[in-house]
Amino acid sequence: MPSITVAPQDGRSYEVLIEAGALRRLPALVPAGRGTIGIIADDRVFGLHGVAVEAALRGTGRPVIVASFAAGEASKTRETKAGLEDALLDAGLGRDGVVVGLGGGVATDLAGFVAATILRGVAFIAAPTTLLAMVDASIGGKTGVNHRLGKNLIGAFHQPRAVVADLDVLATLPAAELDCGLAEMVKHVLVGGDEAGLDRLVAAAPAMRRLELPALADEVARSASIKARYVALDAREAGARAALNAGHTIGHGIERASGYGVSHGSAVAIGLVAEALAASRLGVLEERDARRVREAVIAAGLPDRLPAGVSPARVLEATAFDKKRLGGEPRFSLLAAIGRPARDAAGAFTIPVPPAITLEALEQLA
Ligand SMILES: NC(=O)c1ccc[n+]([C@@H]2O[C@H](COP(=O)([O-])OP(=O)(O)OC[C@H]3O[C@@H](n4cnc5c(N)ncnc54)[C@H](O)[C@@H]3O)[C@@H](O)[C@H]2O)c1
Ligand SMILES: [Zn+2]
Repeated sequence: MPSITVAPQDGRSYEVLIEAGALRRLPALVPAGRGTIGIIADDRVFGLHGVAVEAALRGTGRPVIVASFAAGEASKTRETKAGLEDALLDAGLGRDGVVVGLGGGVATDLAGFVAATILRGVAFIAAPTTLLAMVDASIGGKTGVNHRLGKNLIGAFHQPRAVVADLDVLATLPAAELDCGLAEMVKHVLVGGDEAGLDRLVAAAPAMRRLELPALADEVARSASIKARYVALDAREAGARAALNAGHTIGHGIERASGYGVSHGSAVAIGLVAEALAASRLGVLEERDARRVREAVIAAGLPDRLPAGVSPARVLEATAFDKKRLGGEPRFSLLAAIGRPARDAAGAFTIPVPPAITLEALEQLA
């Protein structure tokens, strides 16, 4: 079974299990003890896969409780977190308790944040059920909720004890959600793989969409190990981990400018292309590599153009808004080559990009 080790410098290391049927191993992965196990899942995922997980965990003989919330990003709030905490505490979860986050990135971010703060921190296990959560959100210990002023503004670092990626659960995942994961996988290869890896991922995309197991297992493992490598380098996002924001500065601008009508994955795919064009215009990335990025996005079946009604000027404005809130000039996580993030003269993994360059890149994609 493919298994990847994540070894954050400041904490214990853990395994990411990637396998069809991996959820059956969940009971064996729960840290020893008698404490209550709290499953946190969105209602949709719980309905599809939760009952089996709950039954398996009951087999440990420990008390098991389920705390669910309404599926969707809109639930990633402090209010939802408080409700989940009430449910766990009312049911008697103690310091020896374990929180299992079952679902996509919303569930693993929320459950991880609950685990980070309840009783000042209990053990957390992530059971990601979207492709995005398997290769990205469940790995690395970033947990949190959104605020009306922006995404993920409140949170904590809390590494899981294990990540259990059961490829079988992808059978029920809507195609558009699979594409979101694919976009992040393209990003991973671009910041931590190489040209051959990019070719391989793109070639595997149709088989992955058909949920063919060898292709899925291989590519999920490759992508998860790139994420794991960045987490090992920089668990608290003080430096290198910023490279994982590739495509996301413009991507977030596209999401915002479209009133969140464009999915995160589509926005990241377009963002990767736009940022590659900007990088080549700045002389940071060779033109040939920028073309490679665009070809790969197209070949993976992901969008490379702004949808009708989302103008370059609006995206620029939305991108600037995002950055201004964080203070200072707009800085992007750009590529220096396929597989290599760009760094500035001081070694930082972000590069300032003048608005005129961003606009020019976006206009090429209108
Ligand atoms: N912590 C991190 O490092 C990190 C990294 C990337 C993204 N994220 C976060 O992840 C979130 C996005 O995650 P996501 O795309 O997984 O979204 P999500 O959790 O909302 O899941 C998407 C949808 O798919 C459904 N779903 C999940 N698994 C399913 C399955 N197996 N079958 C059928 N339906 C299923 C969910 O109910 C939901 O409706 C964002 O909030 C983002 O901020 C976090
Ligand atoms: Zn993303």
